Amino acid sequence: MSFNLFFHGHATFTLIVNDKRIVIDPFFAPNNPAATKTVDQIQADYILQTHGHGDHIGDTVALAQRTGALVIANFEICNWLNAQGVNNTHAQHIGGGFNYDFGYVKMTPALHGSGLPDGSYGGMPAGFLIDTGDNRIYFAGDTALFSDMALIGVGGLDLAVLPIGDNYTMGPADSILAIKYLKPKNVIPCHYNTWPVIEQDVSDWITAVRNETDARPFAIRVEQGFIKK
Ligand code: NI
Ligand code: MN
Repeated sequence: MSFNLFFHGHATFTLIVNDKRIVIDPFFAPNNPAATKTVDQIQADYILQTHGHGDHIGDTVALAQRTGALVIANFEICNWLNAQGVNNTHAQHIGGGFNYDFGYVKMTPALHGSGLPDGSYGGMPAGFLIDTGDNRIYFAGDTALFSDMALIGVGGLDLAVLPIGDNYTMGPADSILAIKYLKPKNVIPCHYNTWPVIEQDVSDWITAVRNETDARPFAIRVEQGFIKK
């Protein structure tokens, strides 16, 4: 079974597996300066929410309410979403996995914050490890480098999606170490160039990945896709 991954800008993606559309961290135009699509143009069957920061949850309520998509997030964010009128939620927590109809989703640790836009407590930030049966895909979420990424890579990864912007998350140099721990076949960067504070030269990063790791780097342009057959 193949999967498609479309990049919407910043850290927002649509993963298509088995005809199911899984949107990761909905944040669209005009609030997302890197995005070209607005939330009304997006379809979703599921939403994966890594943490509560506005540049990840900015359009979650609107997308969940319009599409009825099931939102998968930590317990605290699910409670907050329920209070916003989003009732179709599934709470998981760090280290726990669950079988959905597109695959098994495990919530992985991330070193970051998770406060919600209104100041509410958003629990622990997370990443997601998705096992579709044929492919294992890791979304790191916003995080620092941590050496337990080596454990996330056990069993093999077809794809890792990593932040490289620096300042709020790991930067390019730490992302190279992350790739060495994770050992993914393919790697896609995100969370860079959205604002000046996270500006990076992605062609330098691609060169470093090629020279220093065994992974294949793919920097996806906004509204372009990565297809694994
Ligand atoms: Ni964040
Ligand atoms: Mn962020």
